[in-house]
Amino acid sequence: MDRDIYLKIKSEMDAKRQRAIRIAKEKKEKAFEQDPRLQELEDQINMLALNTTKTILTTTDEIKKQIEQENLNMKIKNLTEKLENQLKKDGYKKEDFLPKFECSKCQDTGFVKDENSNAKYCSCILQKVINESYNEANMLRLDEENFETFDIGYYSKKPDKEKYGIDKSPLENIEAIKNLSIKFCENIDSDEQKNLLFTGNTGLGKTFLANCIAGKLIKQNKSVVYQTAPILMDKIVEYKFSQKKDKEDVSDYKKIFDVDLLIIDDLGTESMNNLKFTELFNVINTRILNKKKIVISTNLTLNELYKEYDERVMSRLIGNFIICKFVGDDIRLKKKKLS
Ligand SMILES: Nc1ncnc2c1ncn2[C@@H]1O[C@H](COP(=O)(O)OP(=O)(O)OP(=O)(O)O)[C@@H](O)[C@H]1O
Ligand SMILES: [Mg+2]
Ligand SMILES: [Zn+2]
Repeated sequence: MDRDIYLKIKSEMDAKRQRAIRIAKEKKEKAFEQDPRLQELEDQINMLALNTTKTILTTTDEIKKQIEQENLNMKIKNLTEKLENQLKKDGYKKEDFLPKFECSKCQDTGFVKDENSNAKYCSCILQKVINESYNEANMLRLDEENFETFDIGYYSKKPDKEKYGIDKSPLENIEAIKNLSIKFCENIDSDEQKNLLFTGNTGLGKTFLANCIAGKLIKQNKSVVYQTAPILMDKIVEYKFSQKKDKEDVSDYKKIFDVDLLIIDDLGTESMNNLKFTELFNVINTRILNKKKIVISTNLTLNELYKEYDERVMSRLIGNFIICKFVGDDIRLKKKKLS
């Protein structure tokens, strides 16, 4: 892991975490200021909790200890109910005073405990490091492009075999592809699940849908590397030819093979040579052998892909990918006309 990137992310997370805590605290203070009864109740609860601890520490008679403890617990329960009712009357819930963390697993600390209670990195911070070092943030627009915002209204209801080359309407077609994509996320760990190949003309939502998948998987705590084919190929070749590889270079390179999902966008736009070719085949082949998932998007038709890439790559693609053909009218143009 790149130390600088890690430190930057960690300090951003810490700041966000502190902010969430501060906001929650301020909310509580404001509520308690407006209604002094809340503070009274909370003080009483705290006092009783303290007494409980004292009782546990000082009472030697086990039976007496138990009775007193139960008695105190009952009182605390009653007072807590009172406090909650009072809050409700004031228009609050007790959750309002809890900090809103982005990651519920680590509460934005970046660390969780493993089976042996040792601290390990939370998947959220690992993905943030990947996003920073790999996924060009402006490409991976997870906030704007997700399954909730994916609008099937842009695809025509009217079938037109001559124009689109399929029997179904673009709408029916995209609905099927969207469902396949959701299933793909659900079955990401299944050996049976095939990879996805998005083909189709420009502006039909291939990159958008790839982003939807990335976002959903990241929420499922999966690791995702998104890269356009030209940049991915360049990175790999650069790595292979660099004389001096430090630990970070190696770990970056390994990520291409290790992450749960690799998205290769715009395949076919890169200028190919034999070396890149071999490397592309190596990435696809190794991931397939290790049952690691891939999503590829391309403007090229299957025929064009056949012409562009050799037999080995193509038979790998055909055998292990579900081919999703996007059809319709350029959404980029439609959006431009509307704005
Ligand atoms: N289903 C959709 N709902 C809303 N906006 C969409 C949808 N599909 C595409 N868009 C918008 O249309 C534009 C083009 O989409 P996108 O980049 O995903 O197309 P593409 O198929 O990847 O094109 P290219 O082959 O040129 O890379 C983007 O601005 C995107 O936000
Ligand atoms: Mg695209
Ligand atoms: Zn986390």
